[in-house]
Amino acid sequence: MNKKVVLAYSGGLDTSVAVAWLADKGYEVICYMADVGQGGDYAKLKKRAMSAGAKKVIVEDLKDEFAKDFVLMSLKAGAVYESKYLLATALSRPIIAKGLVESAKKEKADSVAHGCTGKGNDQVRFEVTIMALAPELKIIAPLREWHMYSREEEIEYAKENNIQIDTTKKSPYSLDKNIWGMSIECGALEDPWNEPPEDAYQMTIGPGKAPSKPAYVEIGFEKGAPVKLNGKKMKPVDLILKLNEIGGKNGIGRTDLVENRLIGIKSREIYEAPGAWILYNSHKELESLTLDRELLHFKEGISLKYADLVYYGLWFTPLKKALDAFINETQKNVTGVVKVKLLKGVASVVSRKSPHSLYRKEMATYDKGDKFDRSVAEGFIKVWGMPYKK
Ligand code: ARG
Repeated sequence: MNKKVVLAYSGGLDTSVAVAWLADKGYEVICYMADVGQGGDYAKLKKRAMSAGAKKVIVEDLKDEFAKDFVLMSLKAGAVYESKYLLATALSRPIIAKGLVESAKKEKADSVAHGCTGKGNDQVRFEVTIMALAPELKIIAPLREWHMYSREEEIEYAKENNIQIDTTKKSPYSLDKNIWGMSIECGALEDPWNEPPEDAYQMTIGPGKAPSKPAYVEIGFEKGAPVKLNGKKMKPVDLILKLNEIGGKNGIGRTDLVENRLIGIKSREIYEAPGAWILYNSHKELESLTLDRELLHFKEGISLKYADLVYYGLWFTPLKKALDAFINETQKNVTGVVKVKLLKGVASVVSRKSPHSLYRKEMATYDKGDKFDRSVAEGFIKVWGMPYKK
């Protein structure tokens, strides 16, 4: 084993301290930063990593791949964890871990490291992905090993090691952001009885403060993937970011959840996912229009399973791959246009159309032109209800 490690580096306090800690243990540390839309000043963060003792910093823009292969797959699957979480953080972990593994191979490093805490889901997601993609790599989780348990201790360590950390007052919340949404925990949120303070939200304004005039968006889908916004062809990342902006201004996409972590703890977290919820609602409506009843209902069960798989870090697994094949098959006719009304925190689909629509007005109507043969209903009900009559 060589003493070369590639560390998944975010630029925050934990991973900056991890650089110095690993270097202190004799490792040559290479930092890997994946851009999944979290924002931030990469030049500054690069400097910080170097100040902490990194030999090299790699920055990779994964936004397009993340949107196409992870986010849109999850959208097509209709995955929501515990009814409220569209899985932004959970979806980003496997792609970051994949990038980390590829960098380790390029750099010929025998180890990889991450800055996840020992209590969360993310350590599981990172490590299971690494195990599946590169079982030979040694995984180091400094935060599970070192004996610093508070921010203050880490700041102390950073100062002793001349790491350029942010001295500006840090928000009391722990934030994780990417193009698909924002996860917020800690601070006042740790008491489930506390209403989330307004300053916890980062991407949306409160529905109460949103304009009282509705905004409309028209989303065009092709085989389950959004491809057009208001008639304009857009690549997935841009479309999602634009919807985040419009949705955020209209107070769309806040959820508040006491969730079951994989490792057995219940935690309270709030989420913001304006674009994601607009797309989720739109996609679902288009499925209502284009999928037959049996497929639609069966897929609902798959959506739940899919959300669990994503949440549990099982992205690169045989079951997930098999479900993808099923989901892609279900999306063949999910093409069309959906119009969404955004008003004070609510994104309601008000119109939908599709060349594959299974809606037949002449069957549904109570007006003139009705083609439904009522006489067959009688026989159907007789047979359907027979067991209960007997
Ligand atoms: N609870 C979410 C998950 O496990 C988000 C975790 C990261 N959240 C954060 N605020 N840092 O996917």
